[in-house]
Amino acid sequence: MNYFKKSLLLIFALALASCSKEDQLKGTDKALFEEAKATTIFFYYKFNTSLLSKSAGSGHNFPYLRTRYNVTAASQLDTLGKVKPGAVFPEGSLIVKELYRTSTSLSRYAILKKNSSSADADANGWVWGYIDTDESVAEPAKNKGAACNGCHSQTDNIDYMLMNKYFQ
Ligand code: HEC
Repeated sequence: MNYFKKSLLLIFALALASCSKEDQLKGTDKALFEEAKATTIFFYYKFNTSLLSKSAGSGHNFPYLRTRYNVTAASQLDTLGKVKPGAVFPEGSLIVKELYRTSTSLSRYAILKKNSSSADADANGWVWGYIDTDESVAEPAKNKGAACNGCHSQTDNIDYMLMNKYFQ
């Protein structure tokens, strides 16, 4: 096979591979993933972009993390960039925790979106996403945070948020 044909085959194979990945990610999970990936106009917890080591209470099996808030969610941060005591996040709030496998490789997004009108929202209006950077879904939004909201309801949560409790 000549070089030209080989390159054509390679391009075809790559196109097929990317199509099947696109197919995996659908509906709410896809929408959450696209929103979480956009890193513009977000504010990081304590306005600090450094990676943090996961806390002892973390249910997230990755050594490093950092959490960011979109503009709507950031209305609930105080002047130090921590969540205000008693905060209730408004509709449209998006909170993304980036989970890192090593200090340089981002692996997964843990996502909370306040969207009460979504069919995937839990009783408090939150939609829960858990999606890897390779687009595989670790926990689908349609499960309504069943694997998440028990732990996130623990004492001293603020509207489910746990960053303040574990990172003073
Ligand atoms: C066993 C407890 C536990 C479980 C289960 C858990 N989490 Fe968390 N989560 C934490 C803790 C503790 C933090 C604070 C940061 C850290 O140390 O990981 C956190 C932080 C977060 C944050 C950052 C916002 C904040 O302040 O809480 C998001 C978003 C999040 N988790 C989403 C999820 C999703 C989605 C699931 C389910 C797929 C989930 N969590 C399951 C304990 C848990």
